[in-house]
Amino acid sequence: MSQSDRVSEHRILTGKVVIATHNAGKLVEMRELLAPFGVEAVSAGELGLAEPDETGTMFSENAAIKAIAAAEASDLPAFADDSGLCVDALDGAPGLFSARWAGPDKDFSGAMARIEAELAKRGATDRRAHFVSALVLAWPDGHTELFEGRVFGDLVAPRGALGFGYDPMFRPDGLDRTFGEISSEEKHGVDWQSGNALSHRARAFVTLAAACLRRPG
Ligand code: IMP
Repeated sequence: MSQSDRVSEHRILTGKVVIATHNAGKLVEMRELLAPFGVEAVSAGELGLAEPDETGTMFSENAAIKAIAAAEASDLPAFADDSGLCVDALDGAPGLFSARWAGPDKDFSGAMARIEAELAKRGATDRRAHFVSALVLAWPDGHTELFEGRVFGDLVAPRGALGFGYDPMFRPDGLDRTFGEISSEEKHGVDWQSGNALSHRARAFVTLAAACLRRPG
């Protein structure tokens, strides 16, 4: 059954949800995003759930693999995000392999240096890039819903020690600071009046919230 076949009507999420990530940076962002909705978030790490192999060929497939595995193992609804940085002049790389470019030591200085080296090898002057987040919400009975968000910008020499991953080299359109130079609130905060948000994950979350979350009271 394809991802789209599984998507039917939206279900409203209440109570407890598993955040199917072992990435501390993403966990903090997702917890903060969920806070206003009265949903209790537990992480896959806290529940001791195994991390499934990410064998998909698209962000949405990998997010579904992680969310479905966590929902089945915990018997609770589960969220998973799969995300990455896509560089235009590198035909979308590192893309699905964004985490893997940093190697087992999670060396993102090395991964950012590799992007520069690959651009130099191609003689590329185009420095456009975007982050993508595919967010899947899966229920223990197999129902899933997919939401996606993107943020476009330019690659610059790494600046700033905030954030994680490739944040220091990504300057989003409309800002003169990189994701490494802005607070987590500015990066993934949501203006719930307008629905505006900056980061790819926050943008995906806004669409998810409209479909599946309600404010208490
Ligand atoms: P995932 O855990 O397979 O989704 O790995 C995504 C990888 O993409 C992360 O390890 C980071 O390297 C990168 N990435 C995703 N979102 C962000 C972000 O918001 N800032 C910086 N890097 C990110």
